[in-house]
Amino acid sequence: MAEKLYLYPKWVRLWHAINAILILMLIITGVNMQFSGMKVEFIRFDRAVSIHNISGMLLTANYLFFFLGNFFTPNGKYYKLTFSGMFDRLKKQFLYYTFGIFKREKAPFPVTVEKKFNPLQQFTYVVAMYVMVPIVFLTGWALLYPEFVFVKFLGGSGLKINDFLHVIIGFLLSFFMFVHIYFCTIGATFISNFKSMINGYHESH
Ligand code: HEM
Repeated sequence: MAEKLYLYPKWVRLWHAINAILILMLIITGVNMQFSGMKVEFIRFDRAVSIHNISGMLLTANYLFFFLGNFFTPNGKYYKLTFSGMFDRLKKQFLYYTFGIFKREKAPFPVTVEKKFNPLQQFTYVVAMYVMVPIVFLTGWALLYPEFVFVKFLGGSGLKINDFLHVIIGFLLSFFMFVHIYFCTIGATFISNFKSMINGYHESH
């Protein structure tokens, strides 16, 4: 019988569902804007801009919910990186994903209530949630209110650097999401991690 651990409280699941929907909307409308010069338009340009802006604003509010949730509840402990020995732990997990898993070896960092993320998962979640998402919404707000952006920054145009960061980090975040979904299929069964994000319980092998 698979062991079940309650790892995803209601607020995490609610935040995650809203976050996933909003980021999908942002990716679709963002790509639509990027290719606005094309003959065939998936969403009308002005509509894509409005949906993108509103989704970005809602994402900021939802992020605040995540930030405060992690600050005030025990879920925050899973995001605290321990730097000593981190490289070795990341390497171990990487080797498991690239070789060990195909030889049916045991996972080097099994899921427990103390540590629900493996080292690679923890590292990428911290980078995505505490670096990438804030850069994307802060640069997004700066594009909405350019009067607050430094005209000159590091010898270049502040607006251009801001725009560049928004697009590049937005692209990397889209990439993260696809890789994230792929890794979520590696669970007790193909769909068990997705079920966890609905009922809150993690299923172990
Ligand atoms: C349709 C899109 C998405 C799907 C299907 C999905 C799926 C999942 C699943 C199954 C889990 C639970 C397993 C695990 O902890 O790894 C999870 C957790 C998580 N996902 Fe996603 N995800 C999506 C989008 C995103 C996006 C866009 C982000 C961030 C920008 C994100 C960030 C996270 C984080 C931080 C956790 C851990 C939450 C916690 O327990 O504290 N996800 N996701």
